Amino acid sequence: MDSIVVTGGNKLNGVIPISGAKNATLPLMIASLLSSQPLILQNVPHLADVESLIRILTNHGVDYRVEGKRRNHNGQQGRNISFRAEEIVDTTAPYELVSKMRASFWVIGPLLARMHVAKVSLPGGCAIGTRPVDMFLESLTALGAKIEIENGYAIAEAPGGLVGVDFTFNKVSVGATHVALMASTLAKGKTILRNCAREPEIGDLANCLNAMGAKISGIGSGTLTIEGVKELHGATHTVLPDRIETGTYAMAVAMTGGDVLLKGARPDDLRFALDLLVKAGVGIEETNEGLRVTRNGAALKPVDVGTEPFPGFPTDLQAQFMALMTMADGESRITENIFENRFMHVQELVRLGANIDLEGKTAVIKGPCVLTGAQVMATDLRASVSLVIAGLVADGDTTVNRVYHLDRGFEHLEEKLTACGAKIERVSS
Ligand code: UD1
Repeated sequence: MDSIVVTGGNKLNGVIPISGAKNATLPLMIASLLSSQPLILQNVPHLADVESLIRILTNHGVDYRVEGKRRNHNGQQGRNISFRAEEIVDTTAPYELVSKMRASFWVIGPLLARMHVAKVSLPGGCAIGTRPVDMFLESLTALGAKIEIENGYAIAEAPGGLVGVDFTFNKVSVGATHVALMASTLAKGKTILRNCAREPEIGDLANCLNAMGAKISGIGSGTLTIEGVKELHGATHTVLPDRIETGTYAMAVAMTGGDVLLKGARPDDLRFALDLLVKAGVGIEETNEGLRVTRNGAALKPVDVGTEPFPGFPTDLQAQFMALMTMADGESRITENIFENRFMHVQELVRLGANIDLEGKTAVIKGPCVLTGAQVMATDLRASVSLVIAGLVADGDTTVNRVYHLDRGFEHLEEKLTACGAKIERVSS
């Protein structure tokens, strides 16, 4: 299994191109199941999760075609991929495929909407918490589906098709919003979804669905109104830039010091996190090309934060921000409000020399800490990258094991950091 070895001590200087967002790409790919015509997605990142989802979609009968290299392509840009679900030949998503990636459960929405039946393996637990699917099932049931759980599968049917409804989620969920939104595009009549997640990736999906002929309004708000249509057609859509990748590299520069342009970043999608970095003493400048992040020699200030659904501070940046706060001059408190078990990186950061105590769902970080290289491993992808950025300032070599987590969500991580002066390499064993 590969590992990544980071040798700390170098500042980051240069340009990092921001990739297409993983968390937008996955639902967009799944949306291709809603139409018999091609959905062409541009700027699809090279990620293991994309490959896993391709396996699931092709099992349903989706054909895909990757566009060849184009003039001026630098090899680090995302791909253009056409997905065509001309005929769905299999409405079952089996355990072997779904268990590899939780988001693959989301195919249940489009399969039900278009085929009126679906049998999808329940995703099971994961490292960051129990992550139930009750709200997916409640919203689909409200849309007229009958769903039973049998042998680890959700078996759903809606013989006459789904029917529009006024539904309120009892908690904000990104995945449940994606699924109910996709499902209701083909439901009969009008659907109103209330207390929806407002993450930019939901807006990206809604815009793509509208380009495919859906009638969705209220995009960007917590209430989405969908006028059902009989069918969706093909479209071409460009995946939005990854706000979590943007925030991660911004925090990396904040840790090491230096001056980096995050090219193509969309600051409005991570305003809360950027404001936090400014409070900590990091230079943030919005330019026509993206976001310039700078830090000179001044000490970082400690800042407290709690994770919240968008527009609050994203749970997917919690581990990286904790790594950063180990460098701050004083005590900071980070509270995880979204997932109950998302502190697996704490013990690993402590192995690098961080001073962190856990008080329930709050981590108390006493900086500044002197980090020294060690062998570490992480159980989810954002935690893994927090160890990489901690390694950038640790004394000596930090070896991050279980690199497959990073490959799930960070495109060309080593290349991007190396180009800015980091010493980081992948080692195969
Ligand atoms: C998505 C993101 C993930 C991010 C998370 C929160 C993708 C592919 N993944 O995950 O990177 O960390 O949003 O921003 O986009 N919940 C229930 N019942 C349900 C569904 C969810 O109780 O039926 C709970 C979860 O356990 C969690 C909370 O709701 O506590 C939010 O989870 P959710 O927004 O659904 O996360 P995901 O969509 O799985």
